[in-house]
Amino acid sequence: MQKEVVVSGIRPTGFLHLGNYFGAMRNYVRMQDDYNCYFFVANWHSLTTHPDTKELKNSVHRVIAENIACGLDPNKVALYVQSDVPEIAELYLYLNMLAYKGELEKTATFKDKVRLQPENVNAGLLTYPVLMAADVLIQRAVKVPVGKDQEQHLEMARNFAERFNYRYGDVLPLPYAFNYGSELIKIMSLDGIGKMSKSENQMATIFLADDDEIIRKKIMKAKTDQGPATPDSVKPDYIQNLFTLMEQVSTKDTVAKFEADFNASSTGNCIIRYGDLKKQLAEDMVQFIHPIREKAADIQSDTHLLHGLIKQGADKARDRASETLKLIREAIGLNY
Ligand code: TRP
Repeated sequence: MQKEVVVSGIRPTGFLHLGNYFGAMRNYVRMQDDYNCYFFVANWHSLTTHPDTKELKNSVHRVIAENIACGLDPNKVALYVQSDVPEIAELYLYLNMLAYKGELEKTATFKDKVRLQPENVNAGLLTYPVLMAADVLIQRAVKVPVGKDQEQHLEMARNFAERFNYRYGDVLPLPYAFNYGSELIKIMSLDGIGKMSKSENQMATIFLADDDEIIRKKIMKAKTDQGPATPDSVKPDYIQNLFTLMEQVSTKDTVAKFEADFNASSTGNCIIRYGDLKKQLAEDMVQFIHPIREKAADIQSDTHLLHGLIKQGADKARDRASETLKLIREAIGLNY
C-alpha cells in the first residue's frame, strides 16, 4: 500500500528546546516509518519578519543538524530547506490568485503580527497562509502535524485547494491537521510559568544545545515547594512537570521511587526531597541530551556532510514537487 504523504514545516527561529523535542520532533521521528514524510525548514516564511540573514543561515543549518541528531533519518524522510524548492514559489503564485484579501486580513496570526510589527506589514506577511498552503499542496500531502495555532492556516489551505480543484480540475488532495493527540506531551517552563519557550525565561527552558553544567543548573533552579502535606496529594503542575520530564529521561525504577516518596508516608509526612529528585533528573537529563548535542554539533561543523544532506533532501522534495507542478500547469492550461 502507498504510504500517506505528510508535510510539516519547522520555523528556523532560535535553538530547539525540550518543548519542541517532546511536542513535535519526537512525533516526526515516529511518523517516519509509517508515512511518506516531507519535513522542511521554513526559511522563506522567516523573511516576513526581516531577520538578520546571516543568523538565519546558521539557524537553518542548526535545525537540520538537530533534527537528524534527534533521530530523523534523511534516508527515510525528505529533510529539506524551503528555498531549495522553487516549485513551492510557483504554486504560491497560482494560489495567490485564489486567496482573497479579506480572508487573509482576518487570519489570527496576521492580526497578531500587525499588532507586533506595525512598521512592517508587508504583503508576504499577509500571504503567509498562502505560502504555507503551497508548502503542503506541492507535495499533495494529506496529513500535516501542527499545533493548534496552525489549524486556521490549514483550513485556509483546504479552501485554496478546493477552489483550485473547482476551477481547474481535481489535482490537489485536501490536507488535515494531524497529531498523536493525547499522547502529545506538553513541557512547562521550569519556573512554572507557561510553556517552555525560546523567547521567555531562558533559564527555565532547556535547549538541546545546552551544555551539561547549564542543564544541571537549570534543573536545580526549577520551581518546587515544601512538598505535599498529606499522602497521595495532587501534584501542583510545576511538580508534575518534573515528573513528566523524569518519565521521559529516567528509568522506570527511578520514577517509581520518587512517585512512592511523593505519595508514601509512614509517619504522616511525605518523604519526598525535591533536591534529590532534581539531582537525579539533572543527571538523567544530561545523559539524554549529551549525545544529541554532540551529534548535532558534529553534523553542523561538517559543512561537506551538511551540504550533502541538504542537497539530498532538496532532490527528494523536488522530485514529487515537480510532478505536482506538471499536473497543475496542465490543469490550468499552462502547457504550451
Ligand atoms: N507556520 C508554521 C509554524 O509557524 C510553519 C510552517 C510553514 C508549516 N509551512 C508549513 C507547518 C507547512 C506545516 C506545514 O509553525
